Amino acid sequence: MSEITRVPAGLYGVAVSETGISRSASDGSLVFRGYGIKDLFEKASFEECAFLILEGHLPTKGELDDFTSNLRAHWPLPTNVYQIIKAMPRDSHPMDVVRTAMSGLGANEHSLSPKEQQYSLVAKMPALVANCYRIVRGMEVMEPEEDMNFAWNLLYMLTGKRPDAFDAWAFERELILYLEHDLNASTFTVRVVASTLADVYAACTAGAAALKGPLHGGANEAAMQMLLEIGSPEKAAAYLQESLSKGRKVMGFGHRVYKKVDPRAQLSKGMLKTLLEHRHADDKLYRLADALEQAMWQAKRIPANLDFYAAPIFYTLSLPIETYTPIFAASRVTGWVAHYNEQLAENKLFRPDSIYTGPNDLSYVPIEKR
Ligand SMILES: CC(C)(COP(=O)(O)OP(=O)(O)OC[C@H]1O[C@@H](n2cnc3c(N)ncnc32)[C@H](O)[C@@H]1OP(=O)(O)O)[C@@H](O)C(=O)NCCC(=O)NCCS
Repeated sequence: MSEITRVPAGLYGVAVSETGISRSASDGSLVFRGYGIKDLFEKASFEECAFLILEGHLPTKGELDDFTSNLRAHWPLPTNVYQIIKAMPRDSHPMDVVRTAMSGLGANEHSLSPKEQQYSLVAKMPALVANCYRIVRGMEVMEPEEDMNFAWNLLYMLTGKRPDAFDAWAFERELILYLEHDLNASTFTVRVVASTLADVYAACTAGAAALKGPLHGGANEAAMQMLLEIGSPEKAAAYLQESLSKGRKVMGFGHRVYKKVDPRAQLSKGMLKTLLEHRHADDKLYRLADALEQAMWQAKRIPANLDFYAAPIFYTLSLPIETYTPIFAASRVTGWVAHYNEQLAENKLFRPDSIYTGPNDLSYVPIEKR
C-alpha cells in the first residue's frame, strides 16, 4: 500500500463514492436523478419522487399505481415492534425510539426478500415514526388511512387530526425536500454499513443514529427551539450577536456544500409564507426567521439551510418539535435505501486508514506497580 496521506478534517471536499442518485453543488443547485429540485417541489408527489429516487426514473401511471399499492400492502407494523416501542421509557426522545424500532423491525423481517425488506421499511415509516412518538407520550396507537398518501398519513397520525388538503400538500413539499441529499453524514453511514453486506435495516438504523445529531438532522428541532427562545423579529439581531460572540453554533445555518444558498431553504421559506397567508395567520414567525437569516448573512455570510425553514413550517402545522427529526428520517429512509442498493451494485468494503499519534515502545507494568 502507498504511503498514508492526511486528508482534510471531516473529509471536506473529498469524494468517497460515485452516485447517480442526486447531486448538490456549491452554486446552490440540487438534482434528483437529473430533475431539478424546484421542478419536483412544485409539481411532483412524494410517491413519484420516492419512486424516482429508488428506481431511477419517473414512474408511468401504471408503475405509480403498483408502487403505491405495494407500499400500502406493507403499512402495518408487526405486533412485536409495538411491544418494543411500548417497552421504551416514557421520557425517551422519539428519535431514540424510532432508531430502536427500526432495528426491531429488522429482527422481525429477516426472512423477507431484499426487495420486500426495502418496500417494507419505506412503507412502514409513517406508522413507525408516528407511533414511536404517540406511544412514549401515552397516546393511543393510530393506523394509516387506506386511501390517503404517505404525507397525509404521517401528518394525520402525528397530530391525531385529519389534515386538510392544503396542509397535507405543504407538508408533502417538505418531505420531498428531505428525501435525498447525496453523501450527507447519515447517507455516508448507510453506505459504510452496506459495504459490510449487512442488511438494509442495519444500514438504515445506523443512518438514523447519525441523523439524530444536532449538526445533522437534529438541527431542525434545535432551530425551532431557538426561534421560540428569540421570540420576536426585533430580538433576532441581538440574539445572533450574542451567540456568535460566545462562539455558539447558530442552528439551521451553514452547510458543507452550499456556501451561498441552500435551494431547499429558499423553497421552504416561500412555503412558510404561503402557508401563513393561506391560514390568514400572523406572519411574525416568518419575519423572525427572515430577520435572523439576514443578520447571519450580514455577520458571517452563512446561509440558512433546509432545517431552518422546515422547522417553522412543521410548527405552523402543529407538529410537536420532538417529532421533527423523526419526520426527516421518515422521508430520508428512501434516499438511504437507494444508496444502499447503489453501494451494493459495485461494492467495496469501506475501510479507511488512520495516522497513529499514540505512544510507542511501552512495556507492560504489573498492576501493583502502576
Ligand atoms: C452544517 C455544518 C456542520 C457545516 O460545517 P462545515 O462545513 O464544517 O462548516 P464550515 O467549515 O464551512 O464553517 C466555516 C466557519 O463558519 C462557522 N459556522 C458554520 N456554521 C455555523 C453556524 N451555524 N453558526 C455559527 N458558525 C458557523 C464555522 O464555525 C467556521 O468558523 P471558523 O472558520 O471560525 O472555524 C455547520 O454549518 C453547522 O454546525 N451548522 C449548524 C447545524 C446545522 O444547521 N446543521 C444542519 C446542516 S443541513
